[in-house]
Amino acid sequence: MRRLENKVAVITGAASGMGRATAIRFSQEGASVVVADLNVAGGESVVRECRENGGNAVFQKADVSAEDQVKAMIDRAVKEFGRLDITYNNAGLGGATGPIENITVEDWDKTFAVLVRGVFLGIKHSIPIMRKQGGGSIISTASLAGLQGYDGIHAYSGAKAAVVNITRSAAIQLGPDKIRVNCICPGGVNTPILYGTTPGGEKIMEQVLANMQPIKRAGSPLDIANMALFLGSDESEWITGAAMVVDGGAIAGESIRLAQQTGTNALPQSGFAGPSFLR
Ligand SMILES: NC(=O)c1ccc[n+]([C@@H]2O[C@H](COP(=O)([O-])OP(=O)(O)OC[C@H]3O[C@@H](n4cnc5c(N)ncnc54)[C@H](O)[C@@H]3O)[C@@H](O)[C@H]2O)c1
Repeated sequence: MRRLENKVAVITGAASGMGRATAIRFSQEGASVVVADLNVAGGESVVRECRENGGNAVFQKADVSAEDQVKAMIDRAVKEFGRLDITYNNAGLGGATGPIENITVEDWDKTFAVLVRGVFLGIKHSIPIMRKQGGGSIISTASLAGLQGYDGIHAYSGAKAAVVNITRSAAIQLGPDKIRVNCICPGGVNTPILYGTTPGGEKIMEQVLANMQPIKRAGSPLDIANMALFLGSDESEWITGAAMVVDGGAIAGESIRLAQQTGTNALPQSGFAGPSFLR
């Protein structure tokens, strides 16, 4: 039996990158998928790809920061496929960048509207349906930037930290309803959010990202789709409130990279460092 047989999923930001890969992966594993995004052409092409692989998918245009559109997106799953088992709040953007003192309130609020309000609304409108059905799995895309600070993307870092903690508080409330709430914290994954529409950008970014973590390759959207698949499936039925890191080891530590950057052999030689007063 396929891992998501008979399940129905809504995936936001599914026109591109991780959301696209997840929509295709979910449909390969038997889920019916509502592909939701602002990008109509991209979303419709993902629906075609899902169907070409034998999957069931429909496109729903939705801005995740608008409550009526999020509600319509969730309702579409029920209208089209009769139920809702998985909501994946994945839509995102870079938002306000640069030094804090230069960020406008408008850009700050726009960042939070998509990254935080979007997740809140996705959780909020999934609850009544999942509760009635006796459970479900809500997944959101946070980031390593939700676990540690990143200079230059202050609004993004703050927003992703909020996603990590909303995940935890919602998991506490919804556990008794068998509604699981988890998030994924990706490292550097080579998607258009990083390289945009720059010609050749994808290739350049592939090389840049390859050197940013112990496993020397860029993250791929499929790495994230596979984690979302696990969290959406019954294989993870005792996991809730978790921030699952998928990052090639990036957040495991810094020392080797520091040694490389300073050009010195900063790593200790083989031996034994005893109490400092005896050395
Ligand atoms: N790529 C990375 O290295 C990385 C790392 C950590 C976290 N993330 C997060 O992963 C998620 C997916 O990003 P991606 O890397 O696949 O980028 P992407 O740009 O390929 O995909 C993001 C999708 O979200 C959609 N979107 C943006 N604003 C929207 C809105 N208001 N309503 C509906 N859809 C909207 C875009 O149209 C796009 O299709 C985002 O939440 C992002 O912050 C990305």
